[in-house]
Amino acid sequence: MTLFSVSDLKTRAELALENLLPRGELAPSRLLEAMRYATLGGGKRMRPLLVYAAGSALGVDFDSLDAPACAVEMIHAYSLIHDDLPAMDDDELRRGKPTCHIAFGEATAILAGDALQALAFEVLGNSVPLAEQAKSAMVLRLALACGPAGMAGGQAIDLASIGLSLNEAELDRMHSFKTGALITASVMLGADAAKCTDPALLNALERYGQDFGLAFQIHDDILDIEGDTAIIGKPQGSDALRGKPTYPAAIGIEASKRRCLQLKDRALEAITPFKESGLLLRELANYAIERSY
Ligand code: IPE
Ligand code: IPE
Ligand code: MG
Ligand code: MG
Ligand code: MG
Repeated sequence: MTLFSVSDLKTRAELALENLLPRGELAPSRLLEAMRYATLGGGKRMRPLLVYAAGSALGVDFDSLDAPACAVEMIHAYSLIHDDLPAMDDDELRRGKPTCHIAFGEATAILAGDALQALAFEVLGNSVPLAEQAKSAMVLRLALACGPAGMAGGQAIDLASIGLSLNEAELDRMHSFKTGALITASVMLGADAAKCTDPALLNALERYGQDFGLAFQIHDDILDIEGDTAIIGKPQGSDALRGKPTYPAAIGIEASKRRCLQLKDRALEAITPFKESGLLLRELANYAIERSY
């Protein structure tokens, strides 16, 4: 039985982020300002919500989930800052505001991304209320998800594939690396925080995360075509403009939508063992492919 709505949890994640982002005179103020600019004030908070949803499906209290929820959002915010840089997607609008490098300059934006990445691991190390061994397992999980066989690797494939037409298997791999890995890690960090060791439940959550992550990125590709800049808060049409390998470019928009639906159904199927406690996980899976931003 969940006592929190998705919007309560989004607010909760935002308050926790606000508290964990450093202020003060120990670090250069412009760098701290850029970190806060890119992390606060906008965004769906999908990854923190997945941490809360998975953890609460396993019965752990939300207090134990705040630190991993913030850690994954810090990695995500860093990935978006770098994704928007001129050397990558060269976009000027993010979450309805000028991108970090437009607001603060490229050098500060790069450093804000670097610092957010480090801060994510600091938060896991310092603020997760678990024994050292459990915390290091969480650090390892997050590191794997954002490294060369995760988000950074996926971004490398994305950039190396500009102008090429990837087949569906290649797109699945790229999307699973660049987006699926961090989304799956968010779900699994919720399970880690709940000290879950049941192999069947862990397997169910992993399959849910993988299908969710792939569907989430395919839907993002669809929004690049069908979305409205004022609603998505980033420039519509950016992928086509830059010759990005996307799902709709490879298999068409209708087939992409069908694939999203199939992946969502399979994600929901995976979490049937959770019954009522899986309510938030189910809500988020539906939202992932119905959202207009
Ligand atoms: C955008 O992520 C980049 C992808 C990995 C698809 P989100 O759609 O989660 O962006 P925000 O956090 O809501 O701005
Ligand atoms: C970005 O994918 C994935 C990341 C790992 C940041 P996109 O380049 O499609 O994300 P948007 O559309 O700019 O948010
Ligand atoms: Mg990109
Ligand atoms: Mg982009
Ligand atoms: Mg996109």
